Amino acid sequence: MQVVSDPRQFTDACAALRSSGGFGFVPTMGALHEGHLQLLRHARELTGRSVASIFVNPTQFGPNEDLAKYPRDLERDVAACESVGVDLVFTPTAATMYPAGEQTRVLPGELAKGLCGASRPGHFAGVCTVLAKFFHLTGPCTAIFGRKDYQQFRVVERMARDLFFPIHVVGYPIVREADGLAMSSRNRYLSESERARALTISQSLKIAQASYAAGERSAQLLVNTACSALTTQGLEIDYVQLVDPNELIPVSGILAGPALLAIAVFSGRTRLIDNAVLGEPAAWVDRGGRGEATS
Ligand code: PAJ
Repeated sequence: MQVVSDPRQFTDACAALRSSGGFGFVPTMGALHEGHLQLLRHARELTGRSVASIFVNPTQFGPNEDLAKYPRDLERDVAACESVGVDLVFTPTAATMYPAGEQTRVLPGELAKGLCGASRPGHFAGVCTVLAKFFHLTGPCTAIFGRKDYQQFRVVERMARDLFFPIHVVGYPIVREADGLAMSSRNRYLSESERARALTISQSLKIAQASYAAGERSAQLLVNTACSALTTQGLEIDYVQLVDPNELIPVSGILAGPALLAIAVFSGRTRLIDNAVLGEPAAWVDRGGRGEATS
Protein backbone atom coordinates (compact mmCIF):
# COMPACT_ATOMS: atom_id res chain seq x y z
CA MET A 1 0.00 0.00 0.00
CA GLN A 2 1.30 3.39 -1.02
CA VAL A 3 0.69 6.41 1.25
CA VAL A 4 1.26 9.83 -0.33
CA SER A 5 0.55 13.37 0.77
CA ASP A 6 1.75 15.23 -2.28
CA PRO A 7 -0.95 15.92 -4.93
CA ARG A 8 1.34 15.29 -7.88
CA GLN A 9 2.46 11.95 -6.46
CA PHE A 10 -1.17 11.09 -5.84
CA THR A 11 -2.11 11.88 -9.45
CA ASP A 12 0.79 9.81 -10.76
CA ALA A 13 -0.11 6.85 -8.53
CA CYS A 14 -3.77 7.08 -9.66
CA ALA A 15 -2.68 7.12 -13.30
CA ALA A 16 -0.60 3.98 -12.70
CA LEU A 17 -3.58 2.21 -11.09
CA ARG A 18 -5.82 3.29 -13.95
CA SER A 19 -3.46 1.92 -16.56
CA SER A 20 -3.64 -1.45 -14.82
CA GLY A 21 -7.44 -1.55 -14.88
CA GLY A 22 -8.97 1.33 -12.90
CA PHE A 23 -9.88 1.83 -9.25
CA GLY A 24 -12.59 2.75 -6.78
CA PHE A 25 -12.04 5.92 -4.77
CA VAL A 26 -13.42 6.46 -1.25
CA PRO A 27 -12.91 9.97 0.13
CA THR A 28 -13.02 10.12 3.94
CA MET A 29 -12.24 12.40 6.84
CA GLY A 30 -10.55 9.59 8.74
CA ALA A 31 -11.56 8.23 12.17
CA LEU A 32 -12.34 5.18 10.08
CA HIS A 33 -14.99 2.72 11.21
CA GLU A 34 -16.56 -0.38 9.71
CA GLY A 35 -18.81 1.79 7.49
CA HIS A 36 -15.79 3.32 5.77
CA LEU A 37 -14.12 -0.09 5.52
CA GLN A 38 -17.15 -1.58 3.79
CA LEU A 39 -17.01 1.22 1.22
CA LEU A 40 -13.35 0.40 0.63
CA ARG A 41 -14.05 -3.32 0.28
CA HIS A 42 -16.86 -2.48 -2.15
CA ALA A 43 -14.47 -0.29 -4.17
CA ARG A 44 -12.19 -3.27 -4.56
CA GLU A 45 -15.04 -5.60 -5.48
CA LEU A 46 -16.31 -3.20 -8.12
CA THR A 47 -13.04 -2.23 -9.74
CA GLY A 48 -10.28 -4.54 -8.45
CA ARG A 49 -8.43 -1.71 -6.67
CA SER A 50 -9.19 0.77 -3.93
CA VAL A 51 -7.95 4.25 -3.17
CA ALA A 52 -8.76 6.23 0.00
CA SER A 53 -8.25 9.84 0.95
CA ILE A 54 -8.02 10.89 4.58
CA PHE A 55 -8.51 14.62 5.03
CA VAL A 56 -10.53 16.60 7.57
CA ASN A 57 -11.80 19.26 5.21
CA PRO A 58 -11.99 22.61 7.00
CA THR A 59 -14.27 24.33 4.47
CA GLN A 60 -17.21 22.02 5.17
CA PHE A 61 -17.32 22.88 8.88
CA GLY A 62 -19.28 25.88 10.15
CA PRO A 63 -17.71 28.32 12.63
CA ASN A 64 -19.45 26.67 15.62
CA GLU A 65 -18.92 23.10 14.48
CA ASP A 66 -16.44 20.43 15.57
CA LEU A 67 -13.46 21.01 13.20
CA ALA A 68 -10.97 21.42 16.06
CA LYS A 69 -12.12 18.37 17.99
CA TYR A 70 -12.88 16.12 14.99
CA PRO A 71 -11.10 12.81 15.81
CA ARG A 72 -7.75 12.45 14.06
CA ASP A 73 -5.58 9.32 14.21
CA LEU A 74 -3.70 8.96 10.96
CA GLU A 75 -1.56 6.02 12.03
CA ARG A 76 -4.58 3.94 13.03
CA ASP A 77 -6.48 4.95 9.88
CA VAL A 78 -3.59 4.00 7.59
CA ALA A 79 -3.38 0.61 9.34
CA ALA A 80 -7.15 0.15 8.88
CA CYS A 81 -6.78 0.88 5.15
CA GLU A 82 -4.00 -1.67 4.92
CA SER A 83 -6.18 -4.27 6.67
CA VAL A 84 -8.76 -4.12 3.85
CA GLY A 85 -6.21 -4.21 1.04
CA VAL A 86 -6.28 -0.55 0.00
CA ASP A 87 -3.76 0.15 -2.77
CA LEU A 88 -3.22 3.87 -2.29
CA VAL A 89 -3.97 6.40 0.48
CA PHE A 90 -3.86 10.16 0.01
CA THR A 91 -3.21 12.11 3.21
CA PRO A 92 -2.80 15.77 2.23
CA THR A 93 -2.50 18.66 4.70
CA ALA A 94 -4.91 21.61 4.82
CA ALA A 95 -2.12 23.85 3.51
CA THR A 96 -1.76 21.58 0.47
CA MET A 97 -5.48 21.46 -0.33
CA TYR A 98 -6.03 25.17 0.44
CA PRO A 99 -2.73 26.97 -0.22
CA ALA A 100 -2.38 30.67 0.60
CA GLY A 101 -4.32 32.74 -1.90
CA GLU A 102 -6.76 30.03 -2.96
CA GLN A 103 -10.28 31.40 -3.29
CA THR A 104 -12.28 29.24 -5.67
CA ARG A 105 -15.39 27.39 -4.50
CA VAL A 106 -17.86 24.99 -6.14
CA LEU A 107 -21.44 26.00 -5.33
CA PRO A 108 -24.09 23.29 -5.54
CA GLY A 109 -27.71 24.21 -6.33
CA GLU A 110 -31.18 23.29 -5.10
CA LEU A 111 -30.23 19.78 -3.93
CA ALA A 112 -27.97 21.34 -1.28
CA LYS A 113 -30.48 23.86 0.07
CA GLY A 114 -32.79 21.78 2.25
CA LEU A 115 -32.16 19.19 4.98
CA CYS A 116 -28.54 19.48 6.23
CA GLY A 117 -27.91 22.37 3.82
CA ALA A 118 -30.46 24.47 5.69
CA SER A 119 -28.92 23.77 9.11
CA ARG A 120 -25.31 23.89 7.93
CA PRO A 121 -24.91 26.85 5.56
CA GLY A 122 -21.89 26.48 3.29
CA HIS A 123 -21.38 22.84 4.23
CA PHE A 124 -22.06 21.38 0.78
CA ALA A 125 -20.03 24.08 -0.97
CA GLY A 126 -17.11 22.91 1.18
CA VAL A 127 -17.82 19.27 0.33
CA CYS A 128 -18.14 19.97 -3.42
CA THR A 129 -15.01 22.11 -3.44
CA VAL A 130 -12.78 19.53 -1.82
CA LEU A 131 -14.25 16.71 -3.92
CA ALA A 132 -13.76 18.72 -7.12
CA LYS A 133 -10.09 19.05 -6.14
CA PHE A 134 -9.84 15.33 -5.38
CA PHE A 135 -11.58 14.32 -8.61
CA HIS A 136 -9.20 16.46 -10.64
CA LEU A 137 -6.32 14.70 -8.94
CA THR A 138 -7.69 11.16 -9.30
CA GLY A 139 -8.87 11.48 -12.89
CA PRO A 140 -11.46 9.00 -14.20
CA CYS A 141 -12.56 6.46 -11.59
CA THR A 142 -15.52 5.08 -9.67
CA ALA A 143 -16.17 7.05 -6.46
CA ILE A 144 -18.15 5.41 -3.67
CA PHE A 145 -20.28 7.37 -1.18
CA GLY A 146 -22.33 6.16 1.76
CA ARG A 147 -26.08 6.65 1.74
CA LYS A 148 -25.83 7.47 5.44
CA ASP A 149 -25.01 10.96 4.10
CA TYR A 150 -27.77 10.65 1.55
CA GLN A 151 -27.94 14.33 0.62
CA GLN A 152 -24.16 14.44 0.14
CA PHE A 153 -24.39 11.43 -2.19
CA ARG A 154 -27.06 13.12 -4.33
CA VAL A 155 -25.25 16.49 -4.36
CA VAL A 156 -21.96 14.87 -5.44
CA GLU A 157 -23.67 12.74 -8.06
CA ARG A 158 -25.21 15.90 -9.53
CA MET A 159 -21.95 17.86 -9.36
CA ALA A 160 -20.14 15.10 -11.25
CA ARG A 161 -22.86 15.15 -13.90
CA ASP A 162 -23.15 18.95 -14.15
CA LEU A 163 -19.41 19.56 -14.36
CA PHE A 164 -18.62 16.60 -16.65
CA PHE A 165 -16.32 14.92 -14.16
CA PRO A 166 -15.29 11.53 -15.59
CA ILE A 167 -16.33 9.97 -12.30
CA HIS A 168 -18.88 7.21 -11.83
CA VAL A 169 -20.59 8.00 -8.51
CA VAL A 170 -21.93 5.00 -6.61
CA GLY A 171 -24.08 4.99 -3.45
CA TYR A 172 -23.54 2.34 -0.78
CA PRO A 173 -26.13 1.28 1.85
CA ILE A 174 -25.96 2.50 5.45
CA VAL A 175 -23.75 0.37 7.68
CA ARG A 176 -25.13 -0.03 11.21
CA GLU A 177 -24.00 -1.26 14.60
CA ALA A 178 -25.63 -4.53 15.69
CA ASP A 179 -28.25 -2.56 17.64
CA GLY A 180 -29.16 -0.40 14.64
CA LEU A 181 -27.24 2.83 15.32
CA ALA A 182 -25.82 4.11 12.02
CA MET A 183 -22.03 4.07 12.23
CA SER A 184 -20.44 7.50 12.35
CA SER A 185 -17.10 8.98 13.34
CA ARG A 186 -19.12 11.30 15.59
CA ASN A 187 -20.58 8.40 17.62
CA ARG A 188 -17.41 8.46 19.69
CA TYR A 189 -18.49 11.84 21.11
CA LEU A 190 -21.52 10.18 22.74
CA SER A 191 -21.69 9.39 26.44
CA GLU A 192 -23.32 6.11 27.39
CA SER A 193 -26.71 7.73 28.01
CA GLU A 194 -26.50 9.86 24.84
CA ARG A 195 -25.72 6.73 22.85
CA ALA A 196 -28.67 4.92 24.40
CA ARG A 197 -30.94 7.81 23.40
CA ALA A 198 -29.40 7.93 19.90
CA LEU A 199 -30.66 4.41 19.32
CA THR A 200 -34.12 5.92 19.02
CA ILE A 201 -33.12 7.39 15.65
CA SER A 202 -32.92 4.06 13.83
CA GLN A 203 -35.85 2.78 15.87
CA SER A 204 -38.02 5.69 14.75
CA LEU A 205 -37.08 4.95 11.13
CA LYS A 206 -38.07 1.31 11.67
CA ILE A 207 -41.40 2.34 13.17
CA ALA A 208 -42.11 4.60 10.18
CA GLN A 209 -41.04 1.84 7.77
CA ALA A 210 -43.39 -0.62 9.51
CA SER A 211 -46.21 1.89 9.30
CA TYR A 212 -45.48 2.41 5.58
CA ALA A 213 -45.37 -1.36 5.03
CA ALA A 214 -48.77 -1.61 6.74
CA GLY A 215 -50.16 0.78 4.14
CA GLU A 216 -49.81 4.23 5.72
CA ARG A 217 -49.21 6.80 2.95
CA SER A 218 -49.93 10.09 4.71
CA ALA A 219 -46.66 12.07 4.71
CA GLN A 220 -47.71 14.00 7.80
CA LEU A 221 -48.64 10.88 9.77
CA LEU A 222 -45.39 9.12 8.83
CA VAL A 223 -43.35 12.17 9.91
CA ASN A 224 -45.38 12.48 13.13
CA THR A 225 -44.78 8.81 13.93
CA ALA A 226 -41.01 9.27 13.64
CA CYS A 227 -41.06 12.58 15.56
CA SER A 228 -43.01 11.28 18.50
CA ALA A 229 -40.63 8.33 18.91
CA LEU A 230 -37.69 10.77 18.89
CA THR A 231 -39.07 13.36 21.28
CA THR A 232 -40.21 10.86 23.92
CA GLN A 233 -36.52 10.00 24.33
CA GLY A 234 -35.55 13.65 24.78
CA LEU A 235 -33.66 14.05 21.51
CA GLU A 236 -33.62 17.56 20.09
CA ILE A 237 -34.90 17.43 16.52
CA ASP A 238 -33.06 19.43 13.86
CA TYR A 239 -35.29 18.06 11.11
CA VAL A 240 -37.50 15.10 10.29
CA GLN A 241 -38.58 15.33 6.67
CA LEU A 242 -40.03 13.25 3.88
CA VAL A 243 -38.56 14.23 0.53
CA ASP A 244 -38.38 12.98 -3.02
CA PRO A 245 -35.38 10.56 -3.08
CA ASN A 246 -33.90 12.07 -6.24
CA GLU A 247 -34.56 15.80 -6.06
CA LEU A 248 -34.86 16.01 -2.25
CA ILE A 249 -37.96 18.22 -2.56
CA PRO A 250 -40.35 17.89 0.42
CA VAL A 251 -43.36 15.71 -0.25
CA SER A 252 -46.73 16.21 1.41
CA GLY A 253 -50.23 14.77 1.30
CA ILE A 254 -50.48 11.14 0.23
CA LEU A 255 -47.25 9.51 -0.98
CA ALA A 256 -47.46 8.37 -4.60
CA GLY A 257 -43.98 6.85 -4.84
CA PRO A 258 -40.84 6.19 -2.78
CA ALA A 259 -39.86 8.88 -0.31
CA LEU A 260 -36.72 9.52 1.71
CA LEU A 261 -37.37 9.87 5.43
CA ALA A 262 -34.41 11.93 6.62
CA ILE A 263 -33.62 12.67 10.25
CA ALA A 264 -31.13 14.97 11.98
CA VAL A 265 -31.16 15.22 15.77
CA PHE A 266 -28.92 16.25 18.62
CA SER A 267 -28.14 13.70 21.30
CA GLY A 268 -26.51 15.96 23.86
CA ARG A 269 -24.30 18.26 21.78
CA THR A 270 -23.68 15.70 19.03
CA ARG A 271 -25.58 16.09 15.78
CA LEU A 272 -26.48 12.75 14.21
CA ILE A 273 -28.17 11.93 10.90
CA ASP A 274 -29.88 8.84 9.55
CA ASN A 275 -32.41 8.02 6.86
CA ALA A 276 -34.46 5.36 5.11
CA VAL A 277 -36.14 5.28 1.73
CA LEU A 278 -39.78 4.26 2.19
CA GLY A 279 -40.93 2.16 -0.76
CA GLU A 280 -37.35 1.73 -1.91
CA PRO A 281 -37.04 0.47 -5.51
CA ALA A 282 -35.78 -3.11 -5.88
CA ALA A 283 -32.46 -1.98 -7.41
CA TRP A 284 -31.58 -0.35 -4.09
CA VAL A 285 -32.29 -3.30 -1.85
CA ASP A 286 -29.30 -4.92 -0.14
CA ARG A 287 -28.03 -8.11 -1.74
CA GLY A 288 -26.25 -10.79 0.24
CA GLY A 289 -26.00 -8.52 3.28
CA ARG A 290 -23.33 -6.42 1.65
CA GLY A 291 -25.51 -4.06 -0.29
CA GLU A 292 -25.53 -3.28 -3.96
CA ALA A 293 -26.89 0.19 -4.26
CA THR A 294 -25.45 1.61 -7.42
CA SER A 295 -26.91 4.63 -9.03
P1 PAJ B 1 -16.79 10.90 6.27
O1 PAJ B 1 -17.81 11.36 7.22
O2 PAJ B 1 -15.47 10.41 6.79
O3 PAJ B 1 -17.44 9.77 5.38
C1 PAJ B 1 -16.73 9.21 4.31
C2 PAJ B 1 -17.66 8.31 3.52
O4 PAJ B 1 -18.11 7.25 4.36
C3 PAJ B 1 -18.93 9.08 3.07
O5 PAJ B 1 -19.27 8.67 1.75
C4 PAJ B 1 -19.97 8.61 4.08
O6 PAJ B 1 -21.29 8.65 3.58
C5 PAJ B 1 -19.51 7.17 4.31
N1 PAJ B 1 -20.06 6.65 5.56
C6 PAJ B 1 -19.87 7.14 6.80
N2 PAJ B 1 -20.58 6.41 7.69
C7 PAJ B 1 -21.25 5.46 6.99
C8 PAJ B 1 -22.16 4.41 7.33
N3 PAJ B 1 -22.54 4.18 8.57
N4 PAJ B 1 -22.64 3.64 6.33
C9 PAJ B 1 -22.27 3.86 5.03
N5 PAJ B 1 -21.42 4.83 4.66
C10 PAJ B 1 -20.91 5.61 5.62
O7 PAJ B 1 -18.45 12.30 4.23
C11 PAJ B 1 -17.33 12.74 4.45
O8 PAJ B 1 -16.42 12.10 5.24
C12 PAJ B 1 -16.82 14.02 3.83
O9 PAJ B 1 -17.90 14.90 3.64
C13 PAJ B 1 -16.06 13.82 2.49
C14 PAJ B 1 -16.97 13.16 1.42
C15 PAJ B 1 -14.81 12.95 2.72
C16 PAJ B 1 -15.61 15.19 1.94
O10 PAJ B 1 -14.77 15.83 2.84
